[in-house]
Amino acid sequence: MVLLRFSILVVLAVAGVFCGDEKEFRIRTNRIWEQEELKEDQKEFSGRWQDLETTPYDNIVHFDGEKHLANVKQLTFGGMNAEGYFSFDNSKLTLQATGYGTDCDQIYELDLNIDPKLQTLRRISTGLGGTTCSYFYKEADNNHRLYAGNWWNVKIDDKTDVSKTCPQKKCANPQGDELKQLCNTSYTWDIFPDYDIFKVDRFGNFVQRLTDSPGYDAEGVVSPDGTKIAFTSIRSGDLELYVMNTDGTNLVQVTNELGYDGGSFFTPDGKRLIFRASRPKTDAEIAKYKKLLSYDLVEPIAMELFIVDIDGKNMRQITHLGEANWAPYMLNDNKRIVFSSNYDTAANGFGAFSLYMINDDGTGLEQITFGKNQFNSFAMQSYDGKKLVWGSSRNGTMYELNLFIADWIDNPDATTNPVVTTPVVTSTPKGQETTTNSYSSHSLPSVATSTPKGQESE
Ligand SMILES: *[C@@H]1O[C@H](CO)[C@@H](O)[C@H](O)[C@H]1NC(C)=O
Ligand SMILES: *[C@@H]1O[C@H](CO)[C@@H](O)[C@H](O)[C@H]1NC(C)=O
Repeated sequence: MVLLRFSILVVLAVAGVFCGDEKEFRIRTNRIWEQEELKEDQKEFSGRWQDLETTPYDNIVHFDGEKHLANVKQLTFGGMNAEGYFSFDNSKLTLQATGYGTDCDQIYELDLNIDPKLQTLRRISTGLGGTTCSYFYKEADNNHRLYAGNWWNVKIDDKTDVSKTCPQKKCANPQGDELKQLCNTSYTWDIFPDYDIFKVDRFGNFVQRLTDSPGYDAEGVVSPDGTKIAFTSIRSGDLELYVMNTDGTNLVQVTNELGYDGGSFFTPDGKRLIFRASRPKTDAEIAKYKKLLSYDLVEPIAMELFIVDIDGKNMRQITHLGEANWAPYMLNDNKRIVFSSNYDTAANGFGAFSLYMINDDGTGLEQITFGKNQFNSFAMQSYDGKKLVWGSSRNGTMYELNLFIADWIDNPDATTNPVVTTPVVTSTPKGQETTTNSYSSHSLPSVATSTPKGQESE
């Protein structure tokens, strides 16, 4: 019933969208490429641009000490791009970005076989409302993706400027004394209650609504075998992780503790979920968490990494670092986790986020990205283990975020063994000491508030 009513709404909405000439132009941007297949001269570049060597440690896109990364390349430009995730054949990235004609995040696609400087991002989402967190289905032809958004709930008419239909951030214009006070004293993320997860085809055409419970449903990812989706939902009254089949059936609640459990990924063996959670402990923290949640807000300033079996068993906390430890992704050894953290202000600068790596038993913490006062997060390893893609403020201001890709050097000490003719001096990372002492802590008071999810429009 609900689904049927929903499809009628979609038909109406799409019809409405395409009546006005002006509006058609705006929303067409994700259609222009529908007929456009790869040109011959683009095919020529297939994959090759990724293999071109870049200067190590230029301190622009590749900082001293980043020895797990080689041939670092910038994938997006413009500074409001985030959460790039590989297709299962590693040939494409799906990402969210603001600023290509819309005021808040929309879902785009990048073809990794083509030099990013020779292509325009292809928009997959409707352009209506806001979106977040897209992911590829596991298919030979990469025909389907999922993403979360509220476009189904956006009311439009002939006069609507589609690019201005972004969901209102609660704290952008807080109503009432209580909310004003909360917004004044908290750094908040909006948990938009009308976000639901949708399956679309490669042109962005609607295929299936995967969630329809009231409240936030988002952060969907597909399991390595392609049969399951893990996601975050507030349907129980709290933000918990769920797993379901890719067609939306067989829903299982995985976590059930007070706090924001989110941003999960399947481990490469498909058996566990790696995620980050903020778990309020004291009465005051619990009261504030619940109060914020009643306004569809969370304050993600204290987050630690957790791991749990997909049936909810064997939940374990991995990090105890303090501050914000989030955006975890497990490497294909099923053991080490790359994540983002701002815990080490002394080394990296106040409000700076670096990528780290840690074993799933909490040992072996190692810093992966360096560079003073940088933001680095949303790391994902390609399914073949060869590449790492992540979002970083490097080669931009602290408020910008672009996607970068690098060769993943699993064991840098082995590859820099002077067996090769390369002089040792060029392959020896210099920046190791930066973890401990070479950075003075810089005061960038607003940096912390510009980072996680901060790419959404003002
Ligand atoms: C840094 O950004 C500029 C402008 O966005 C771009 O032209 C340049 O190629 C980037 N540098 C690298 C090393 O990617
Ligand atoms: C917000 O905080 C500032 C500084 O602490 C204070 O001057 C102002 O009155 C506060 N506003 C509200 C609405 O609470």
